[in-house]
Amino acid sequence: MPTSIVYRSFAKINLYLDVLNRRRDGYHNIETLFQTVNLADRMTFTERETGIELDCSEPQLANPDTNLAGRAARMLQERTGYGRGVHIEIEKHIPIAAGLAGGSGNAAATLVALNDLWDLELSMGQLKLMALELGSDVPYCLEGGAFTATGRGEELMRIAPLPAAWFVLVHPPIAVSTPRVYNSPNLRRNDAPRFAGRTRGFRIAVHSLMHGRYGDGVFNAMESAVFADHPTLEKIKHLLVERGCITAAMSGSGPTLFGVCDSRRNAMRIAESLEEYETSVVSPVPYGLERG
Ligand code: C5P
Repeated sequence: MPTSIVYRSFAKINLYLDVLNRRRDGYHNIETLFQTVNLADRMTFTERETGIELDCSEPQLANPDTNLAGRAARMLQERTGYGRGVHIEIEKHIPIAAGLAGGSGNAAATLVALNDLWDLELSMGQLKLMALELGSDVPYCLEGGAFTATGRGEELMRIAPLPAAWFVLVHPPIAVSTPRVYNSPNLRRNDAPRFAGRTRGFRIAVHSLMHGRYGDGVFNAMESAVFADHPTLEKIKHLLVERGCITAAMSGSGPTLFGVCDSRRNAMRIAESLEEYETSVVSPVPYGLERG
């Protein structure tokens, strides 16, 4: 029997996201607070003689040359010269291209799982460098939990677990292109001065979130750009607050919106009231990947 390893990779939301200046490398400096939540894809990695094969419950993601997990596997082979292959099976539960880093989480799981399955003995530092080449959110996905991030999103600092909260996620059937959001004329970049690498607004927001004052801390600067193209999303954000959420915002470059609730019961009630949309009720988890 060939050896298999199973991993779950968790979705993340950005409780705070601000866009600062455009950098020389074309990326933007950002300030964000990431939190993983209990919505996960399930991935099975099985040894093969050669090649990288990929099956996915969402057929449009089953191309190993474009799927970020397939690209992570290829990168490991190229960097280490390892000759054997893998079959990757992905059971998707995290909506695709939704601002929840589902693909980035799959890539992070692939780096960790294959390092083990193929006995590559790469250090966490080496995996982190490869993760950043695969995407700005992938280094965070190797960790998971509550983190602040600056730079491209890879300068990570773990923070204490956030006070309990339940999130109503709304998944509208809209596609949003991340580069388009970063380049939108409607995106207002924050040029406030930074002290120790952080703006005052970010430090205040992180403090509020760490003390459970979600209404003061939750923010996403990308909303202006995305809502201009998709007014329905702004409507859903207001609906979440009208129905009883403490506050609501978009996650990442969208289109997923989240509303913050102080009890699971309230969150379930609000999710049920939004019956015209696909919703999930989730809460924070302290890790990004889970084996088995
Ligand atoms: O790193 P990732 O592949 O997720 O980025 C996708 C695109 O989003 C980049 O090519 C870039 O245009 C934009 N981006 C950015 N600044 C970041 C992250 C992403 O401008 N910090």
